[in-house]
Amino acid sequence: MSQGDSTLLLKPALLVVGTVIAAVIVVFALNGLLAYLGVGAVGPAPQAGAPAASQANATQANATGNGGGAAAAGGEVRKLPGTWGGSKWYNEDLREQEFKYKDPEAGEEVQFQPKKMNDSTLPENEKRAELIREGRSLFANTSEEMPEHVGNDLSCANCHGGGDLPTTTGMVGQDIDMIPLVGTAAGYPEWTGRTERMRDMRQRIMGCFLRSMNSPGSAEGMPEYDSREIQAMESYMVWLNKGTPSERVPYWRHIEKPEGDEKVPVSEVNPVRGAELYLENCASCHGADGQGVDGQYPPLWGEDSFNDGAGMGRMYTSAGFIRESMPYGAGHTFSNWEDVQDVAGFMNAHKRPHLPRQPKDWAAAGAPDEGIYYNRTQQRLGYDMNPMTKKLMLADIPIDDSNVTEEMIPEDTSRYDEPLRNESVDGSWETTWIRTYENVGNESTSNTTASNRSTLEPQAAVSSAMQDGESAENRADAAG
Ligand code: HEC
Ligand code: HEC
Repeated sequence: MSQGDSTLLLKPALLVVGTVIAAVIVVFALNGLLAYLGVGAVGPAPQAGAPAASQANATQANATGNGGGAAAAGGEVRKLPGTWGGSKWYNEDLREQEFKYKDPEAGEEVQFQPKKMNDSTLPENEKRAELIREGRSLFANTSEEMPEHVGNDLSCANCHGGGDLPTTTGMVGQDIDMIPLVGTAAGYPEWTGRTERMRDMRQRIMGCFLRSMNSPGSAEGMPEYDSREIQAMESYMVWLNKGTPSERVPYWRHIEKPEGDEKVPVSEVNPVRGAELYLENCASCHGADGQGVDGQYPPLWGEDSFNDGAGMGRMYTSAGFIRESMPYGAGHTFSNWEDVQDVAGFMNAHKRPHLPRQPKDWAAAGAPDEGIYYNRTQQRLGYDMNPMTKKLMLADIPIDDSNVTEEMIPEDTSRYDEPLRNESVDGSWETTWIRTYENVGNESTSNTTASNRSTLEPQAAVSSAMQDGESAENRADAAG
């Protein structure tokens, strides 16, 4: 957070970052394509961030006898440090060992391994196979294929990896650095403390529509529990689970979030420094306005991004994702947690669609500190708005989809390390925004830049749809 000790390891590398990222993407894409087409051995997950040498190593080791207890190139297959608790356990050693590990109790060897979709991996029953293929396609092209249920321009694969963008590999949900969904079906149904109940996989997927895909901003809202689409996506997740140990969720499940000392208290995160880091590390793809490039790089904020109730809108969750997954193809390049939290703070200082049911989230337990878009969190931390938004506004850096420029960033950003709770800002900072049902008939829609794109129904129809959706929404309560 202070300027001095937080230099990004990446900085010196920036001189060559273009070349490196380009090379890494080529390697990644080639590897992914090979694995996907099934040319040669289907190796371990292509690791974009890993040096080329260790990639070659891994492929070689794989070709010469994979599985069967064979030790990885680097020596003994590692055992998990203890009984598997269900949150991510992840380290560099493991990356160098083809992502193999042994469960200390079962003694069985497990390896992260993307698989291709073909007759040998699909069920014989053609109807089931068809559903799985459909599910894969829905994951990859969600907003295109389900526009009536998606209120933004995202696809599941934009966060869960391997979408059908020219820059990605086509191995949907099978990129170890992009919240992989391989083997996670084993974790469902699961207990959720937030609503104190069991939830199944369909409800989890519906929760992603509600939040990450901003379905409240779409014409029909969330897809039905029993719809063909939800069944297809569930089938795809079950397919992803085949070949991984059952009744056990794999170590690569979940994002590794900052813990204990690694967490910067929310009020001390510095999104103004984050703006600088953003321009250096992210803007080349996602744009100085955060809107990305249509069909290539997804938007990080604004009306076409995830809503303010999504898991990616939380401070520590998004920091964990960014550290693991971004810059795309070169994850794990941020040298410290402070930098990455500053970037996450910058991203989540911006306006995005509003989730109408926000006040019902964490109704009993209280919203966590990282829920910076939640009024209750803001109030508990002593703020009258999202603390990150406040700091950007105090620095005169835009919180909408206009460009942030180098000139806007002050020479000395250390002032924004302070909480700045009691400063007041001018202007509108509401996250509630554009294409949300709540905004129908409300004058704040007048600042929409794309009202002509919006397909909002008349208010009466909309509110009855909301009523009907209510119990489904409660069932779909989820973080994603
Ligand atoms: C080399 C280009 C590139 C760079 C640089 C890059 N990203 Fe990404 N980012 C992508 C791509 C491509 C995806 C979608 C991946 C997919 O669909 O499989 C993505 C997805 C994301 C997502 C999830 C989807 C969304 O829109 O919310 C977030 C968040 C994100 N990037 C943040 C960042 C941040 C923060 C940085 C800077 C630290 C960064 N990215 C740097 C290319 C890039
Ligand atoms: C903006 C990013 C984003 C998008 C888009 C997104 N998700 Fe997620 N998803 C997340 C995050 C963040 C988590 C929580 C990860 C964690 O718990 O560590 C998550 C978790 C999940 C999980 C639970 C994984 C587990 O290990 O149990 C499932 C299933 C899931 N998402 C499915 C989907 C589906 C289906 C879609 C599309 C309809 C989708 N997601 C779109 C960010 C996203």
